[in-house]
Amino acid sequence: MKILLVGNGGREHALADALSRENTAVELIAAPGNPGIASLARLASVKTTELPALVALAEAEAVDLVVVGPEAPLADGLVDRLRQRGIPAFGPTAAAAEIETSKHVAKTLMTRAGVPTARAETHRTAADAHAAVRERFGAPVVIKASGLAAGKGVIVCHTLAEAHAAIDRIMDDRAFGDAGNEVLVEAFMQGEELSLFALTDGTDVLTMLPAQDHKRLLDGDDGPNTGGMGAYTPVSLGTAALLDDVTERILLPTLHALRKRDTPFTGLLYAGLMLTESGPQVVEFNCRFGDPETQAILPMLDSSLLDPMLAIARGARIGSMSPLRWRSGASVTTVVAASGYPDTPRSGDVISLPDDDATRRVYHAGTTRASDGTLRTSGGRVVAVTGLGATFDEARRISREGAAAVGFEGAQFRGDIGWREAARR
Ligand code: GLY
Repeated sequence: MKILLVGNGGREHALADALSRENTAVELIAAPGNPGIASLARLASVKTTELPALVALAEAEAVDLVVVGPEAPLADGLVDRLRQRGIPAFGPTAAAAEIETSKHVAKTLMTRAGVPTARAETHRTAADAHAAVRERFGAPVVIKASGLAAGKGVIVCHTLAEAHAAIDRIMDDRAFGDAGNEVLVEAFMQGEELSLFALTDGTDVLTMLPAQDHKRLLDGDDGPNTGGMGAYTPVSLGTAALLDDVTERILLPTLHALRKRDTPFTGLLYAGLMLTESGPQVVEFNCRFGDPETQAILPMLDSSLLDPMLAIARGARIGSMSPLRWRSGASVTTVVAASGYPDTPRSGDVISLPDDDATRRVYHAGTTRASDGTLRTSGGRVVAVTGLGATFDEARRISREGAAAVGFEGAQFRGDIGWREAARR
């Protein structure tokens, strides 16, 4: 079984780890991969933006499956191109990926399908957006760039002044470029967030363990927003009853609406949820595995990832497959970020890492192998250290101690990943 994995982050390292761990007959090629993935896969120096070259690589290698990690190549139609060539690909088409790449499309679809989500308006001019805030929403309010903005296009505004400044930043200063051509003004939701991933053939789902991300840079959910500084799973709030409810009232109707739109969604549907007093509501959908939740969730998987992925990529149905099985215990992931992250991450610092063992995985993200052979920082989030334990407290300790053992100049990490779960206990 030959698999091409597209991507170079911690999420893809966790995918490579899961796929190679479950089946030693898997031959992995990663494009472009990273120094961590290099111990599990052959690396091909093709970037995730080079769509024709990725298709050519998949054809030349006669791969059985392509797994696409990041959203950008999905948005640009990599899966469409692969399918045109008859190559099984795990991930949605560009049209189906709009559930993530256009917050306006996602909101319209959810509203029409009766999927619980916050009230919102889409505006194409700053003047209209300002008027919406002033006349119909007030504060607190959420301002969102509709397009893909590398996870930074959602601004939670606690005052009217912040909301007006956010609209100006997105629409006048064009802080997120064309992603800000449309802006959503959305009612603020109060509650805890939960990430729920579902493998889907477009109709049925196999849900994964729920996880919770930590978007702020500093302990206590303080400081600037980041791509995610850590995650843990399972989340005790994510009971079986809650997941059944989310499946029935959110996942299945959304997939139905996507089929009705003639853009069936296959691959991994990521529901970003807010657990409000009136039940779970959708904050956003993503069209791919989340980062860093994947680094916490996949090491807990105790059944095949490849079987459902392959079935979905081949266009088969998964409705008769058994639910995914999970290890007992808990998993906590702590991201170790570069000095200056998130605004101006420094590159080029020499890294030393603790080893992987039965309770610890170190996933590479922003690392590179320098010409002198040393491992060096090359991105904002450098590595993620996942701790696996019989209990949440044990997993948390292993993750935190592992993060502290990562050595490079200016390394920063949060010591409180999972603090909400710890408080609940
Ligand atoms: N964990 C947030 C994301 O992957 O978008």
